[in-house]
Amino acid sequence: MKTLIKGGTVVTAIDTVKADVLIDGEKVVAVLAPGSHDFETTADTVIDATGKLVTPGSIDVHTHMELPFGGTVASDNFETGTRAAAWGGTTTIVDFAVQVKGESMIEGFDNWMAKADGNCAIDYGFHMIAGDINTDTLQEMDTLVERGVTSFKLFMAYPGVLYSDDGQILRAMQKAAESGAMIMMHAENGIAIDVLREQALERGETDPKYHGITRPAITEAEATHRAIALAELAGAALYIVHLSAKEALAEVATARDRGLPVFAETCPQYLWLSLEEHLSKPGFEGAKYVCSTPVRPRADGHQEALWTGLATNDLQVVSTDHCPFCMEDHPSLGTQKRLGEGDFTAIPNGLPGVEDRFQLMYHGAVVDGRLDLNRWIELCCTTPAKLFGLYPQKGTIAVGSDADIVIFDPGATWTKSATQHHMNVDYSAYEGLEVQGKVEQVMLRGTMIVAGGEYVGAKGDGNYLRRGNAARLH
Ligand code: URP
Ligand code: ZN
Ligand code: ZN
Repeated sequence: MKTLIKGGTVVTAIDTVKADVLIDGEKVVAVLAPGSHDFETTADTVIDATGKLVTPGSIDVHTHMELPFGGTVASDNFETGTRAAAWGGTTTIVDFAVQVKGESMIEGFDNWMAKADGNCAIDYGFHMIAGDINTDTLQEMDTLVERGVTSFKLFMAYPGVLYSDDGQILRAMQKAAESGAMIMMHAENGIAIDVLREQALERGETDPKYHGITRPAITEAEATHRAIALAELAGAALYIVHLSAKEALAEVATARDRGLPVFAETCPQYLWLSLEEHLSKPGFEGAKYVCSTPVRPRADGHQEALWTGLATNDLQVVSTDHCPFCMEDHPSLGTQKRLGEGDFTAIPNGLPGVEDRFQLMYHGAVVDGRLDLNRWIELCCTTPAKLFGLYPQKGTIAVGSDADIVIFDPGATWTKSATQHHMNVDYSAYEGLEVQGKVEQVMLRGTMIVAGGEYVGAKGDGNYLRRGNAARLH
């Protein structure tokens, strides 16, 4: 089965060129100068992309489908969440399998595989959240690397739940350094934050905004500094997840300037949303924006510093940390965000975003003139693939790559709303935001899965991706 996408502008991390793309089966087999060939006559399907951008399918390396958290479960499961991802132009996710206390990492991995297997609309891989590091479970890290799980997330936050102490972190980093696996860090000083949370509640400060106020930037910066020091000691590669504070970004920039293999992502919520405008909304509205690390005060310049970091490559990836919880009771999952009414510490942490990221980033980066088309693709497609062992199978349009392709209308304008999105959650974090640029068609390994305003794929189209180690980038 041969498909020709003709007349479009192909955008990769390097090039923006008018070119036709020939697909045979699941792979890209040629990128051709328009008018230089006659494949139109022999292709089974010809797609006219005149006036459109033809981009790689985007890759979201930070999602939490059906994550148990704070007494409930994230409202998107692998079926609904990956379908919503497809609508937004994302053709690969790397989700987080979880090892809880008392469990082996292999058990945690098997549990997450069982949830995803046969349900995903797009391709998927896993990182492993190491929630119980000890002599036995450290050995399992090598087994997981053999199964294609080449990155491990550790938590300096959430004491008593997923938290690891510095000794556990160092041991896991030493193990990762041996196999070349990546350590991903949730860098917040959870022990200090717990003191601030307790003191806030004692003062009667219970509104959602105190979630942000009790997780000040210094707690992220300190943990980021400590994570970098421990990774340097162990000789491990380090990737800071959901970075939101400009002071944490400065720690990453300093480490990178010293030549250390330190990387970081940010997420759209930290670029668009703020403590003053969103988390501090009256009543319980702010609960919609409760996530960790928190959205930061705009007055302190965090959002602009993150945009600069994306331009200077101090930040290399934009992911979502998609972890949605409904504001109103969910028919089967029950009370979600409202578990924390009257006590901000009980609000489940997380925001929806898997469908939003690729289009939002086009608007914020390209339409608003902060970054160019190629950097948009590099941040959302190519570097995620390189850092998480998927390149060049994923993350670009090149001969031999998977034909994961988005046909993107750069001129379409629309308004973001929960009434339109496909994520299984009853609000949009960007309700009412007007954006330019829209995903029109999405292809997964040569098969169309979104076209003509319809989802035309099927549950189970997505394959498990056995990932390799990170490409050594800087
Ligand atoms: O608020 C967040 N980020 N929820 C998901 C869990 C995590 O820490 O990534
Ligand atoms: Zn986290
Ligand atoms: Zn997360």
